[in-house]
Amino acid sequence: MLKFKAPQADTWAAMGQAHGYHVCSRVELEEPWFPDGKLLAKAPNLLAVCSLGAGYDVIDVDACNQAGILVCNQSGGNSEAVAEHAMGFMLALSKKIMLSDRAMRKQANLERFLYTGNDLLGKTVGIIGLGNIGGRVAELCKGLFRMTVLAYDPYLTKEQIAAKGAQKVELDELIPRADYLTMHSPRTKETFGMMGYDQFARMKPTAYFINTSREGFKLAHDISAYSLVALTRAALPLFEKAGQGSVLRHLTPVVPLRQSKDHRRRRVKPTAPAPCGRSRSRRPG
Ligand SMILES: NC(=O)c1ccc[n+]([C@@H]2O[C@H](COP(=O)([O-])OP(=O)(O)OC[C@H]3O[C@@H](n4cnc5c(N)ncnc54)[C@H](O)[C@@H]3O)[C@@H](O)[C@H]2O)c1
Repeated sequence: MLKFKAPQADTWAAMGQAHGYHVCSRVELEEPWFPDGKLLAKAPNLLAVCSLGAGYDVIDVDACNQAGILVCNQSGGNSEAVAEHAMGFMLALSKKIMLSDRAMRKQANLERFLYTGNDLLGKTVGIIGLGNIGGRVAELCKGLFRMTVLAYDPYLTKEQIAAKGAQKVELDELIPRADYLTMHSPRTKETFGMMGYDQFARMKPTAYFINTSREGFKLAHDISAYSLVALTRAALPLFEKAGQGSVLRHLTPVVPLRQSKDHRRRRVKPTAPAPCGRSRSRRPG
């Protein structure tokens, strides 16, 4: 086990002997320990490099190919945890759980309807990347909440996507249709910047954007188009890189900019007067 705090000379000596190199994730790895051309030149015995978790975003795959070094990842290892986390975000955002928690801690006697949320039932989820995590999210969305599941994954056929309970669509179609857009693609040259201002602007104003993948989008200047944003720790470097003046500096992982009210659209006739007797017009829209 190599330690970042160890003297670099010791680590380079170990690297020079190693046949395998198992790297940690992008958020933990430090320079100069990214497996790139420079490192490989100092590790002549390396036969294989493996990344922790899914994707190869920490590994210079081209440099490994040129050096004849095998590359592998551990895709799927924690897919259940990430998929459930994405579902947790969908529920927490829709039900305004974190917002109401914060508000209740700050202020007594909150307006009861101020934090009314929406339901997931029957909504449309758009999944970018229908692999281990995206596939599980599809299963949960369909099974738990009878959602329509759209998927953009150029590496899966229509039949493979249908087998996971989703409809294959292009990204251009998925974006405006999704009530929840959740990213589960790896960070690659194709996916980095895939979600930008133009894409966010085409989302429904009431839609939620959830990203549990690794910095798959450039969002520094794109925040104004968001309805709601949920980010995991994997996306935290974005916050760190954002300049002092950036709106990102003022964000917490969940940012309410707009809201929708399912209950207003539902035609449920009350059989008795509303218990609190408050007028609907007092609810913020
Ligand atoms: N937040 C976390 O803790 C955490 C943990 C594990 C993985 N992840 C991220 O989630 C991603 C997905 O993990 P996984 O286990 O499901 O990986 P996976 O390899 O099983 O699935 C990735 C899917 O993305 C698809 N894909 C590739 N390029 C695409 C593109 N250009 N557009 C759309 N889809 C594309 C692939 O075809 C594949 O189906 C990882 O690459 C990683 O970045 C995050």
